[in-house]
Formats: sequence, structure tokens, C-alpha cells
Amino acid sequence: MKVVGLGGDEPVEGTADVVVAIDGPAGSGKSTVARRVAEEAGLRYLDTGATYRALTLALLRRGIPVEDAEAVADAAKAVDLTLELPPGRAGAARVLLDGVEPGLALRTPEVNATVSAVAAVPAVRELLVGLQRSLVGVGGIVVEGRDIGTVVWPDADVKVFLTASEHERARRRSDDTEGGGETAETLARRDALDSGRAASPTRAAADALVIDSTTRTIDQVVDHLLQLIEAARATRPR
Ligand code: DC
Repeated sequence: MKVVGLGGDEPVEGTADVVVAIDGPAGSGKSTVARRVAEEAGLRYLDTGATYRALTLALLRRGIPVEDAEAVADAAKAVDLTLELPPGRAGAARVLLDGVEPGLALRTPEVNATVSAVAAVPAVRELLVGLQRSLVGVGGIVVEGRDIGTVVWPDADVKVFLTASEHERARRRSDDTEGGGETAETLARRDALDSGRAASPTRAAADALVIDSTTRTIDQVVDHLLQLIEAARATRPR
């Protein structure tokens, strides 16, 4: 597992710009918000969920029984997962599996149904958190996930935990064609597993700002985050 720049294995230039952590359950609107905020603030973007999904896909392709934590921990070490930084200082980091971007294969019902079991294995989290930190360390990035503010980057300059009512989250997910139209049942099961696991469960950090997006538009949440970024940038030399 490694992080590369576009030019391959050369070291990547760091920036002193802010790190923005956005955590929350599935369907809270965090992906849409995180992408938009990154774009509008001119920051890089990392979807850490995609790293758990890519690893799960690799294990499924290899026929590893994903409920067997020991087999998962063993097989995970051999998976060829790369995070590729975007060119310049903005844009989304790409997740490559065996050198190829898996695209929609990350969002199949099979991956939706098994990713939480894989993400609950401590050895998997250790590997992927290490990979994610190497990229976040470059700076100037919006990072979304479940444990960014608590574990991956507790020193983030802006820390937000996005929530929405269960009903609203299920509604958004079934509307979301990119999400493969995940059913309310799988979504609820995934959230329960992600919040109930022993290893870094979905949690708001004590110092995170909790934003309930049930009755707010995406635009309102994005604007709020852009204000927080502006304030954080003002107190930080770039
Ligand atoms: O963000 P997502 O729904 O694509 O994430 C897929 C799964 O990955 C999620 O159900 C739990 C896991 N995950 C995690 O454990 N920690 C993260 N930081 C991000 C995702």
C-alpha cells in the first residue's frame, strides 16, 4: 500500500493549507458536502470510505471469507492499494487497486453488504489509516470518513460531524444512483455495525462541530463549512 504523486513515486510537495475532517454515517450528505467544499475552497479531497471499499473488493475477488477476521487480516497485507494525489493543489485523490481505478465496482450490493465486516478488523484499520495519514500529511485537503476527527487526523483544523435523521438518510441513499440505490435495510445494518464496532467506531470527536443536515440544504451546509475554513485559514500561515 502506498501513496504516489502523479509522476509516480517521487516525493510530493506539501502545503501548509488546512486539513478539514468530515465524519458521519452513510447518507448524512457527507460525500456531496465534502466534494463541494473541496472544490469551492480549492483543496484536495480524500474519500476514505473508498479505501475500505477497495480493500473489500480485493478480498471478495480473491475469495477470502470476509467474516473471518484472521483470514481478512492476513490477506489484506498483500493487497496492492495505491492512493494517487491529484495534479496541483486541488482535486480528488484516486484509489487504485492493482494499479487500476475500480470505479463503480466499489459500490455494488456485495461490497455494501460486506465492507463493514472488513472495516471492523483492527489490522485492516491499521493498514488503511497509515495509508490515509501519508496522504493527509501533504496538507490542504478535505477528508471524509467515520474516524477522521477521532483517529486519522485529530489535529484537523476544521472538524465536522454530519448527521441526518434515519428516514432522511435512507431517502437520500435510495435517490443516489451512484450509491447503487442501497436499500434502507443495508444502510441501517451498515451504520449499526460501523457505530457499534470496537475499533474506532463512527463517532463525533469531542471537539467536532455536529451539524444536523435533516432540515438544511446541501448549499447551507457547504456555506457553513466554507466559513469555518475561511476562519481557520485566517489563523494559519499558508
Ligand atoms: O463512506 P462509505 O459509506 O463509502 O464507507 C464504506 C464503509 O467503510 C463504511 O460502511 C465503514 C467503512 N469506513 C470506515 O470504517 N472508516 C472510514 N473512515 C470510512 C469508511
